[in-house]
Amino acid sequence: MEQDFLTTPARILITGADGQIGYFLNQAAVTDPFFSVVALTDHEFDISDPEQVQRQLDLHMPDYVINTTGFNTVDRAGTQSERCVALNTDGVENLALACGDLSIPLFHLSSDYVFDGHYESGYTEEDQASPLGLYGETKWQGEERLRTALPQHVILRVSWVFSTVGDNYMRRSLQQAREQKCISAVDDRRGCPTSATDIARVIMAMLKQLHNGAENWGTYHYCGAEVTSRYGFTEAVLAAASQYEKLKAEELKPISSSELCSDAERPASSVLVCTKLLNNFGIRQIPWRSELVVMIREQYQNEEFTESV
Ligand SMILES: NC(=O)c1ccc[n+]([C@@H]2O[C@H](COP(=O)([O-])OP(=O)(O)OC[C@H]3O[C@@H](n4cnc5c(N)ncnc54)[C@H](OP(=O)(O)O)[C@@H]3O)[C@@H](O)[C@H]2O)c1
Repeated sequence: MEQDFLTTPARILITGADGQIGYFLNQAAVTDPFFSVVALTDHEFDISDPEQVQRQLDLHMPDYVINTTGFNTVDRAGTQSERCVALNTDGVENLALACGDLSIPLFHLSSDYVFDGHYESGYTEEDQASPLGLYGETKWQGEERLRTALPQHVILRVSWVFSTVGDNYMRRSLQQAREQKCISAVDDRRGCPTSATDIARVIMAMLKQLHNGAENWGTYHYCGAEVTSRYGFTEAVLAAASQYEKLKAEELKPISSSELCSDAERPASSVLVCTKLLNNFGIRQIPWRSELVVMIREQYQNEEFTESV
């Protein structure tokens, strides 16, 4: 019997459901009648275990798997290399092989860290990957395993993700500005901040088109509109937050990456060119500044709610 796309929701299985992107994707998709959602956290579904992967897919038989898991603590990749490989590379292959056996397309998230960041004008999907460290290398190898195992895939590379969930640059900057009189931010690294809600919007828009027959499989880039530096983004975080409270920080000092104590080398440019996504799916970039204003408002609303209970 032919499937009725207008009335039958697309069944999606989200992995890493309490991470930044997983959380906001689940929140948006469960309220959209186009989707029927199974969202599983790492406690419910560990993608590094091939048996669990097989079992969960057999159990739920989704139309699509959306992999939002990731070992993303770039500075700890060196000391926790086994976990990093198990999740970013082997885990992706586990999903790809099991999805392939059941003819389920896999939607996977990857990162600007597959590039070395020397290319200032921004990276297209055609540019050569050249990761600087273990995190980027494991993300790249994960992509490659997926390409080899399963033609029906989407790899969406994103950058500089911020949200009210988990540990991210927006929340760390806000915390520092609450605790310290003088804070600093790197002004020699460029990129495009991207809200987790905006990424959820993009994933859902892509899935709708794929489910309705678009055969646009492959690798895509997405990031928020407007290139800035970490310093520029921090300025915007402080400006948005100061609408809600008087922050302790009185000074924001620009510094260079070499002055920063960090274990891993990071790309100087994380700028992703998103033209392919526009051409193939008609999806446009949204300015990250308007997304940031909303996220900061939500951050304060969440804190108010937590304090009142
Ligand atoms: N954050 C960024 O700036 C950024 C930039 C570019 C690309 N990306 C990519 O975007 C994706 C999502 O990023 P995110 O920021 O949403 O990540 P996140 O907040 O760190 O969420 C990742 C989730 O994966 C879960 N997880 C860990 N090990 C797992 C396992 N073995 N099996 C299943 N789940 C597991 C984590 O659980 P625990 O919290 O319990 O460990 C967490 O809930 C990742 O692929 C990442 O590489 C992120």
